[in-house]
Amino acid sequence: MSLEGTPTAANIREAFAREAQAALRSLYFARRADVEGHADVAAYLRALADGEAGHGFGHLEFLEEAADPLAGAGDTRGNLDSAIAEAEANAAAYEAHATAARKGRLPDVAEWFESVAAAEHAHVVQLTRVRRALDEHE
Ligand SMILES: [Fe+2]
Repeated sequence: MSLEGTPTAANIREAFAREAQAALRSLYFARRADVEGHADVAAYLRALADGEAGHGFGHLEFLEEAADPLAGAGDTRGNLDSAIAEAEANAAAYEAHATAARKGRLPDVAEWFESVAAAEHAHVVQLTRVRRALDEHE
């Protein structure tokens, strides 16, 4: 039976978001543990983040089976194209969030979104360079 378009495929997508969030939160918590001088706890949290990333990779493998574009395109060229599209979409979203934050008189948040949007634009430039280099070398 194919996974494509099934409720289970949607559940796997949701589970991936959970694992991605858990991995980043664990890394963030590890930084706090380091600041507080709990190096052993920080090391544990970083290992936990690796485990969460492993779970996320497992979800991505099933999403690939379900032909979900979240899992990429199946080859490096397509994956780079997917990463470029993602960075562009992120930049646009963050610019909209910055505008909303300015309207809400939250200039610190607006500046943060603007700086992350600029980083996303830089990622688009870098990814596009890497994508072109791949075509030129083959
Ligand atoms: Fe997990």
